[in-house]
Amino acid sequence: MEPKILVTGATGTIGSFVVDLLKDKKANFVAMVRNQEKAKPFKEKGIKTVVADFSKPALLERALEGIHKIFLLSVTSPEAPALQASLVEKAFEARVQHIVKVSVRGADPNANFNIGRWHGETEEVIRKSLISYTFLQPHSFLQNLLFDAQSIREEGKIYSMQGDGQIPMVDARDIASVAVKALLEPGHEKASYVLTGPQSISYHDIAREFSVALDKDVEYIKQSTEEGISAMLEAGMPRWLADDMAYLNTRYANNEDSDVSPVIEKVLGTKAHNLVDFIQDYIHIFK
Ligand SMILES: NC(=O)c1ccc[n+]([C@@H]2O[C@H](COP(=O)([O-])OP(=O)(O)OC[C@H]3O[C@@H](n4cnc5c(N)ncnc54)[C@H](OP(=O)(O)O)[C@@H]3O)[C@@H](O)[C@H]2O)c1
Repeated sequence: MEPKILVTGATGTIGSFVVDLLKDKKANFVAMVRNQEKAKPFKEKGIKTVVADFSKPALLERALEGIHKIFLLSVTSPEAPALQASLVEKAFEARVQHIVKVSVRGADPNANFNIGRWHGETEEVIRKSLISYTFLQPHSFLQNLLFDAQSIREEGKIYSMQGDGQIPMVDARDIASVAVKALLEPGHEKASYVLTGPQSISYHDIAREFSVALDKDVEYIKQSTEEGISAMLEAGMPRWLADDMAYLNTRYANNEDSDVSPVIEKVLGTKAHNLVDFIQDYIHIFK
């Protein structure tokens, strides 16, 4: 029998691409959603769903019945390590064979930022669980630029704390494609994949490419760390996340996380999407 896959985070950025790719490949999978309302769009496309939640053990146990592989995606939060540890325990009891987990570049139980530490703790739990795994450790997503759509549209400006530094931002569509390979094909067991875009880019590059694509001036406004933190807190971001963003952006500004990883091209056999591809494909949102 073809192994059955549970897709968590199915309504999210990466998860929705994973679901579409698995559907195209006619894979045996079920999308986990948190309520019936969220199940509707999947059902309309003929995709099987199961209602469950990381924080609801009984529902989770039921969702894991008959599952062989999991695409594991959790929002980052202080509760995430405990919730995922509990899922891993239940997955082991349900005889799940493989977990493909979305983690983060720099994940480590001793990392200096919360997101890296929390993902690192979960990776450690999975490593010790005897379930096979593939850890996807992406860099910052190109899709994060969607948060800048309003200022690009309304002010012709893009703001960042990244100074003149460069990072190889990665397209969530490529992360999903690698996840699907790891779910459907052998050869990705016990692998940790650092996933980046094909070249390092700065916010000067980002502003320039938006200016070209939109045929208007898009100006890059450099924020100090204090200005960046204030703006994030004002927008309702929790303090721990604003602090993580400030920490990471200081590293980015100093080109400490600028290395390009070859993994996407190696695993997919095609080039990773770059900034220009992303802008072209999402241009309607920035107009
Ligand atoms: N953004 C970046 O640049 C970046 C870089 C590296 C790593 N990452 C990692 O990538 C992950 C985020 O990926 P994403 O942007 O694709 O996610 P996302 O779009 O934020 O989606 C999160 C998903 O988790 C689901 N969810 C929320 N609470 C849940 C719960 N209690 N039980 C079960 N499911 C729950 C959401 O469902 P609902 O629709 O019901 O809310 C949604 O499907 C995080 O782990 C983050 O650390 C992000």
